[in-house]
Amino acid sequence: MNIAVFVSGGGTNLQAIIDNIKKGNIDGNIEVIISSKKDAYALERGKKHGIEGIYIGKNNYPNLAERTYKILEILEEKQIDLIILAGFMSILDKEIVQRYKNRIINIHPSLIPSFCGRGFYGKKVHEAVLNYGVKVTGATVHFVDEGTDTGPVILQKTVIVKDDDTVESLSKRVLEVEHEILPMAIKLFAEGKLKVEGRKVRIK
Ligand code: GRF
Repeated sequence: MNIAVFVSGGGTNLQAIIDNIKKGNIDGNIEVIISSKKDAYALERGKKHGIEGIYIGKNNYPNLAERTYKILEILEEKQIDLIILAGFMSILDKEIVQRYKNRIINIHPSLIPSFCGRGFYGKKVHEAVLNYGVKVTGATVHFVDEGTDTGPVILQKTVIVKDDDTVESLSKRVLEVEHEILPMAIKLFAEGKLKVEGRKVRIK
């Protein structure tokens, strides 16, 4: 199974996927890493493992239509079966979402539908969790649809919020859970065990 991973930042989720493939837990291969940021450390992580990294952003493809065309061209050329959004901070045009329906997986650092959608990304999610005072948060892996963080949920795992948590301490524990459930969801997809029935994902 040919995988494309979309990144924008440090790439710890990408690293978790690379590590799981190397351990033989995932029957697939990362064919390409596409980054919306030229200097994303995630590109370095891929390079260390001989994975091609391509920057596609506002500096080299100024408008969305150009970026979309280039992305689709790469996905076709690499015969990609599954797209993973791993800390990807840009939007995917609906043409890509439609073409790869139920073959794009995203990781979000909260229990969707809480603390998600426009404006809830990265550290902002954990700030909102702490400000609200919830006792439980977690991470969600879901299929991407045309909304923001609105697609069918695949896996979730909880993290207890501690009274003395800071954004840093909480995000660290949530990230550890992300690194568990994202590779697990990819493994299930590769094994053909995910069946989408409307809003629900059945794990066979
Ligand atoms: C993670 O919290 C992820 O949930 C969010 O982006 C953050 C950075 O991820 N989408 P990574 O370290 O770049 O994988």
